[in-house]
Amino acid sequence: MNLLMGAMASSAVGTAAELGIADALADGPATADELAKTVEADTDSLDSVLQALTALGVFTRDADGRYANSPMSEPLRSDHPDSVRHLATLLCGLYGQAATGGLTQAVRAGTSVMPCTFGVGLYEYLDSHPDTARIFDLAMQDWTRPIATLLADNLPLDDVHTVVDVGGGNGTLLQALLSAHPHLNGICADRPDTCDRAEHTLAESQQDDLARRLTFRPTDILQDVPTGGDLYLIKNVLHDWNTTTSVQILRNIRTAMTATPRTSAGAPPKLLIIDPLAEHDSGAAFRNVIKMVVGEPRTRSRSEADIRREATEAGFDVLSITPCPADLSVITCVPTS
Ligand SMILES: C[S@@+](CC[C@H](N)C(=O)[O-])C[C@H]1O[C@@H](n2cnc3c(N)ncnc32)[C@H](O)[C@@H]1O
Repeated sequence: MNLLMGAMASSAVGTAAELGIADALADGPATADELAKTVEADTDSLDSVLQALTALGVFTRDADGRYANSPMSEPLRSDHPDSVRHLATLLCGLYGQAATGGLTQAVRAGTSVMPCTFGVGLYEYLDSHPDTARIFDLAMQDWTRPIATLLADNLPLDDVHTVVDVGGGNGTLLQALLSAHPHLNGICADRPDTCDRAEHTLAESQQDDLARRLTFRPTDILQDVPTGGDLYLIKNVLHDWNTTTSVQILRNIRTAMTATPRTSAGAPPKLLIIDPLAEHDSGAAFRNVIKMVVGEPRTRSRSEADIRREATEAGFDVLSITPCPADLSVITCVPTS
């Protein structure tokens, strides 16, 4: 029965995340009435959702009806170091609505879910829904934050001058790398509206040195990729696309790299593909369902052999595959000599 009620439970978590309940409880317990005033909601309806979430262990409730955060809800706070507030809003909101509305039709037709539910693919949907697109950017930031620090601490970047992050979202990964390595410059290539929002947010943050070294370049990566990098990254992007499109994006990176055939140290430029691979993915069982919801038609989980085949077809040699936290693997490639 719990499984059958899963969509309702997921929606309730998404609602709490979107309304900012965990933020509202950051300073201590509060009644449903107090919370409803803070987050501008209806007291009785909010109380129903919070009671359900309390039964699931997300919040606690004392004898006087005062709710409090629990270890489960703490990461729903915006200021938690491992915050998943926006990821929860996206997964339990848009992705959940898409799956509920269109999965059966997509399974029958062998196509993607988003067009069945909303009539358009994920990125066309985001183009016409700026509020959801903003949540999407922040959700990707939640997802990237933990591994960005790890990569900033461990990637050998001394001989790199310019890093290009292909489909780099709001620049979270580049900001971590550039902050830790003051000699680096970065180019974040993404859809125009994502670049606009990110550029604006960075300018407002008054991090002048970072803003000087980090450029947001509106790009259609299905058409081309900015030149000028001596290290290219593509993180959590290929997983949205089927093999044909993935090889096309990798070819576009390969073409861009011809402009910088050698780094300042005389080595060939590298490409790091950072994506889940089936062998090292604890979420592998559900990965193909998520790909059906948000990916283009026929996007499926990749194995090590799949990514090697795609990289080779696009003109790369795979030097190594390193499993990382967050179910990701780093696939290090150089142009085929
Ligand atoms: C799943 S997100 C990953 C974002 C970021 N790399 C990260 O790991 O947080 C995929 C990114 O690809 C971008 N994207 C999708 N289609 C694109 C296109 N045709 N041209 C440029 N960027 C695109 C999206 O805007 C989004 O930022």
